[in-house]
Amino acid sequence: MYLSLTHNVRLQVTYPVRVFFLLGVEILIVTNAAGGLNDSYSVGDIMLIKDHINMPGFAGQNPLCGHNEKRFGERFPCMSDAYDRELRVLARQAAEEQGCDSFLQEGVYCMLAGPTYETIAECRALQKLGADAVGMSTVPEVVVARHCGLRVLGLSLITNKVVTDYDSTERANHKEVLRTTEKRAKDLQRLVRDLVSKL
Ligand SMILES: *[C@@H]1O[C@H](CO)[C@@H](O)[C@H](O)[C@H]1NC(C)=O
Repeated sequence: MYLSLTHNVRLQVTYPVRVFFLLGVEILIVTNAAGGLNDSYSVGDIMLIKDHINMPGFAGQNPLCGHNEKRFGERFPCMSDAYDRELRVLARQAAEEQGCDSFLQEGVYCMLAGPTYETIAECRALQKLGADAVGMSTVPEVVVARHCGLRVLGLSLITNKVVTDYDSTERANHKEVLRTTEKRAKDLQRLVRDLVSKL
């Protein structure tokens, strides 16, 4: 039951990407809210995604599983260049011009299926795997976008710091995530708008 539900949700988020492709869209900009795993990150930082870890993919949940639709792309698409280097450079320039480079980071986003937040042991494991931020979205859309050749820019807003200390009394909660999102929404919008004007 749960598996079929997540499958449908994934389909709902990846379907529009193929529609964009058919409409002639060439660039996909994705944003998400993520927990900061990297100790040097602060709440409110914006992270340019340079790479991802598709954790559901490790468990056989890849949006490209099943029959390959050739008109969208090849059977075994490359993912080592998933996040466009040139777009990241432009995003960095836009951030510098706006004076928000002081809270701009660049790192690796790890997707978990959710809907639970991570345990302390899971956070520690993800840090060891080289992830800088963790969330429950974005990767399926990016995989489908890369399959059909769209260029991708990804931005994660660090809405909370994950808990990695068993003595900590802090707990991940959705309210904090929404509060941070509200505070930074304007900055993020401005950054994307400036970036788009540079394309
Ligand atoms: C955390 O982020 C900083 C700044 O981007 C980076 O230099 C560092 O390598 C990252 N730390 C880890 C453990 O990945």
